[in-house]
Amino acid sequence: MITRADVEAAYAKTAGLVRHTPMVSSGEDLPFTLWFKCEFMQHTGSFKARGAFNRQLTAREDGELSETAGIVVASGGNAGLANAFAAARLGVPATVFVPETAPANKVAKLHAAGATVVQHGSEYAEAFTAAAEFAAFNGAVLCHAYDQPGIVAGAGGVGLEVLAELPDVDTLLVAVGGGGLMGGIAAAVEGKARVVGVEPETVPTLHEALAAGRPYALVFLDYRMPPGWNGAETLRRLRAVAPSLRVVLCSAYSDYSWMELSQEFGDLQFLKELRKPFNGQVVRQLALSFSGSRAPLTD
Ligand SMILES: Cc1ncc(COP(=O)(O)O)c(C=O)c1O
Repeated sequence: MITRADVEAAYAKTAGLVRHTPMVSSGEDLPFTLWFKCEFMQHTGSFKARGAFNRQLTAREDGELSETAGIVVASGGNAGLANAFAAARLGVPATVFVPETAPANKVAKLHAAGATVVQHGSEYAEAFTAAAEFAAFNGAVLCHAYDQPGIVAGAGGVGLEVLAELPDVDTLLVAVGGGGLMGGIAAAVEGKARVVGVEPETVPTLHEALAAGRPYALVFLDYRMPPGWNGAETLRRLRAVAPSLRVVLCSAYSDYSWMELSQEFGDLQFLKELRKPFNGQVVRQLALSFSGSRAPLTD
């Protein structure tokens, strides 16, 4: 299970390669102080660069990163872009598998980041299976979009930076997809702050998994997740700190963009809901990890 020590080790390993992103106070009239952790200013526009560098550097240290085979990842989104970027920085090839239905602009971004893009299958699960076969066949390091120890530990760096800048933060609000970011942050801030994960009610995978006590398979709107893919690794972590976390569902969700989320909820209504005490305490200092794939590329 990922611990704070793992997150600290990942943070030290990736220093100089990932950015320490700034935090700004929102200035909104809310019952607590709201801070945005501006992770959209991270390389490639999301926190995924943190895990990507950590996973790839760890593989290199372990002698697993072949200079010719490089890395392979299945993702048409931020994870694919972040891993392609990290591979380019580390001087190894990146192969990114995406479904045939992947939007042309995402494929173009991956090409621009120097990746070889393979469009395979009609849904994400098929692209992932093909990526895993590719890794087994040619020795490329398989980088998961969220469910590997190195990826989770790297993502947790967001939590370390929030704590360093805002030592009295009591609550961190995190968007949940597969749960890697939330798992990493939960490890980083364990015993110091609570973590609230937000996931769409149309895709309540983590919600269901925590209730069931095991990874939960769910049919997504536009692609399918096979059993176990909402993060066995992250689930172990999150179950261990269950009393200090909460998962809330939001009615609208669009590409994990907090900017859009807050617009959907109209004047930060959604954040006002956090007025309710949680785990016996009210929220006073809330840090919101803010990154979205619509943010402009920073590199
Ligand atoms: C910007 C952004 N926020 C949050 C998430 C959710 O991350 P995770 O899959 O680690 O839960 C993602 C996943 O792609 C993302 O791209």
